[in-house]
Amino acid sequence: MNFEEVVKKRASVRKYSDKLPDIKNLIKCIEIANLAPSPGNIALIKYIIIEDQEKIDEIAEACQQDFIRGSQILIVVCSEQKNAETAYESRGKKYTKQHAGAVIEHLLLEITNLGMASCWVGAYSDMILKRILEIPEDIDIEAILPIGYQSRLDKTMQRKKPVLENRIFFGTWKNKYRKPYTKISD
Ligand SMILES: Cc1cc2nc3c(=O)[nH]c(=O)nc-3n(C[C@H](O)[C@H](O)[C@H](O)COP(=O)(O)O)c2cc1C
Repeated sequence: MNFEEVVKKRASVRKYSDKLPDIKNLIKCIEIANLAPSPGNIALIKYIIIEDQEKIDEIAEACQQDFIRGSQILIVVCSEQKNAETAYESRGKKYTKQHAGAVIEHLLLEITNLGMASCWVGAYSDMILKRILEIPEDIDIEAILPIGYQSRLDKTMQRKKPVLENRIFFGTWKNKYRKPYTKISD
């Protein structure tokens, strides 16, 4: 698949087949995620791979999202913002969140590129998840990605997206009209 095909194929899939994703493919996804831009090229993200079904069930419970049980492997994306705060003070938190988003999108695109499927899960009890996964207080959980192969019974395809009308401006906020380009002679 070329880049555009991957982007257009990615969709939140919540029903997975019994086929187990190869751990090597997950590591490949993380290597691709590591190519995402980060503030000052600082390492701010850590990944926990969960393969234990009992733990997956506990995580599904902490998210109150049953579909997660249907996945046999998860990646939990965590951030450690203190290094960004040391470098960028009050902007550190914002930069960490923005970087985490870029990392998660890279992960989702490579998961799709390798023929697998996932769904960005952002709703969960931080407190319960941190206890289950032994994550320290100063680490944030950014997302959980259940990973699998789309079930043949599931027909999810790319969803219709919000229209761009009234969201592209030229030069100033809300200006929808672009001035015709006029070349100034040399
Ligand atoms: C920050 C964020 C949090 C999300 N949290 C959840 C979630 O907890 N559970 C879920 O099923 N989907 C979650 N989603 C997936 C969105 O519902 C999904 O991306 C959206 O409906 C668009 O569908 P698409 O991903 O197929 O394009 C989340 C997405 C984002 C970006």
